[in-house]
Amino acid sequence: MTKILNAHNGLKQGAEIIKNGGLVVFPTETVYGLGADAFNEEAVKKIFKAKGRPQDNPLIVHISSLEQVKDIAREVPSAFYKVAEKYMPGPISIILKKSDNIPMTVTAGGDTVAVRMPQNQIARDLISLSSPLAAPSANKSKHVSPTTAQHVYDDLNGEVDLIIDGGSCAVGIESTVLDLTTDTPTVLRPGAVTVEMLGELLGEVAMNGKAIKIAKSPGMKYTHYAPKVPTVVATTIEHAVAEYDKTISEGGNPVLVYRGIYESIDGRNLIDLGVTAEDYARNVYSALREAEINFDQIIIEELHGGGIEYSVMNRVYKSAGEKTV
Ligand code: TXA
Ligand code: MG
Repeated sequence: MTKILNAHNGLKQGAEIIKNGGLVVFPTETVYGLGADAFNEEAVKKIFKAKGRPQDNPLIVHISSLEQVKDIAREVPSAFYKVAEKYMPGPISIILKKSDNIPMTVTAGGDTVAVRMPQNQIARDLISLSSPLAAPSANKSKHVSPTTAQHVYDDLNGEVDLIIDGGSCAVGIESTVLDLTTDTPTVLRPGAVTVEMLGELLGEVAMNGKAIKIAKSPGMKYTHYAPKVPTVVATTIEHAVAEYDKTISEGGNPVLVYRGIYESIDGRNLIDLGVTAEDYARNVYSALREAEINFDQIIIEELHGGGIEYSVMNRVYKSAGEKTV
């Protein structure tokens, strides 16, 4: 059995577990992370085992102060400090050339490493008390990322030593991944620090086409964020309702996951994501986990805008295996 403790009771113990080569789940502002000492190769190997994660998918190294970057990366370009000044701590990971201190297991054999300083104070306290942490999202590989301690427990009970409960994650989708090892800064995964924000700050930012994304960010080629029941994206609320009613007529038990801004769809199974795009991002993973337990098909409303709407749809399309109605 895995223990769940709040930060007050869990931080010191969590730091001891990390220093002894164990695994600790900790909250961040994006999603919960499954952490091990980033400099301890044996500890990092346990992460892959606990998640069932493919060996070729590299991990993000989490830090609590900018000085730690020098131990992790061998070259730190000025663009890093430009982004760090504005968005660190915060929901962004930056890819740099790795230092020799970082085991190859962390970077999946690659020459680059992703570095992130979380906004969440519990995460930074745990790092300060122990070590920079290699940490992926604390879900079973391919499943929906966890935004509460309960989500983590549902996936990883028995696989980790301790879960530190910090409540619900404020952002709700994973960090932006920005690659600064290429000529043009390139967003490999959009997030709450949006492509637009980075473009404004850095002048030019590329958002990679699919083929390049697969080559550069190994994780992108795997199924991700997938609920355990069939999921489709509805391009309009009308399409969502039509798909819902069709499934009902065929004897199914669907649920509509949508923004609570439509009134004419009452009397159906509904999960309300809130009103704004930020609400949508914060609530979407929780909604997908709730939906897969109680229903046999998920129909989720598409958002069509840029910024965070674009970032959250990047995940939602993957949850649905790109299926739309
Ligand atoms: O918000 C987040 O980033 C969360 C929290 C826990 O910090 N972490 C997270 O980690 O989402 P994970 O492992 O689930 O996703 C990391 C992504 C993967 O797609 C991985 O392939 C990519 O970042 N990545 C990591 N290091 C990389 C590198 N050196 N080069 C290219 N892509 C990298
Ligand atoms: Mg993940």
